[in-house]
Amino acid sequence: MSKLIDGKALAATIKEEIAQEVQEMQSQGLKTPHLAAVLVGNNPASEAYVGNKVRSCEKVGFKSTLIRKENSITQGELMDVIKDLNENPDIDGFIVQLPLPEHIDEHAVTLAIDYKKDVDGFHPINIGRMAQGLDSYLPATPFGILQMLDRYNIETSGKHCVVIGRSNIVGTPMSILMSRKAKVGNATVTLTHSRTRDLEAEVKRADIIIAAIGIPFFVTSNMVKEGAVIIDVGINRVEDSSRKRGYRLAGDVNLDDVLDKVSYITPVPGGVGPMTVVSLLKNTLRAAKGEIEF
Ligand code: GUN
Repeated sequence: MSKLIDGKALAATIKEEIAQEVQEMQSQGLKTPHLAAVLVGNNPASEAYVGNKVRSCEKVGFKSTLIRKENSITQGELMDVIKDLNENPDIDGFIVQLPLPEHIDEHAVTLAIDYKKDVDGFHPINIGRMAQGLDSYLPATPFGILQMLDRYNIETSGKHCVVIGRSNIVGTPMSILMSRKAKVGNATVTLTHSRTRDLEAEVKRADIIIAAIGIPFFVTSNMVKEGAVIIDVGINRVEDSSRKRGYRLAGDVNLDDVLDKVSYITPVPGGVGPMTVVSLLKNTLRAAKGEIEF
């Protein structure tokens, strides 16, 4: 049996399930789910991510709206865009792609989004509800990881999970989700970061490693316990002159080095990445159905 968790195949399966559900909703005369994305400026990585989100909407039968704004947009103008989306009854959920230009207050933007349409799960109300174990929109990457662990029947209860990296988008929410009382959860969690003493020893205790630090090939076999499960969240560009674009994508884990030791691992690309977009679609579907009782 392969040790590789095939995020790409799993994402395709879940997209088919979502497409089926959209068809059923339409045949019952219900509204077609509608996601909007706001993209400010032309950061190449953001362009790629947003393009992928919009294409994925089309694939499952959602409506999508892409709102592009110049880098020079003012805070007030962006707030007006958000207000319009909050008030537009046809939009079920929307995201404002990050990072934003330096003159924009990202926190204020996140706060301005109606939490009932916050399909990124970044609003403090959604994060607070998640921390309290209440139903909420979960941030896309952590939600995608939970779905992978679930569908691969990877036991988490009572396991020791070590998260590397404490970002708001991945490390911190992941540490909360893995420790909460839920089907995928009930783990004992250690959240490690740049100030952690003897990181190698901490990671070596892990049954489940979630690497989200943004340093290519950071996790090596000397840090990994025999039989561990590794979720590699890293999407790093590393120089590769054999590629036309001059780089390739690499994870935070040295996969070749650790493969003999692990029981499961997610590859990069084709692991966590495709699951992230699927999670956004799932959140949008939940929004269209008004599923969360706030
Ligand atoms: N930038 C990087 N990841 C994300 C994400 O999940 N959502 C948004 N809005 N911006 C991002």
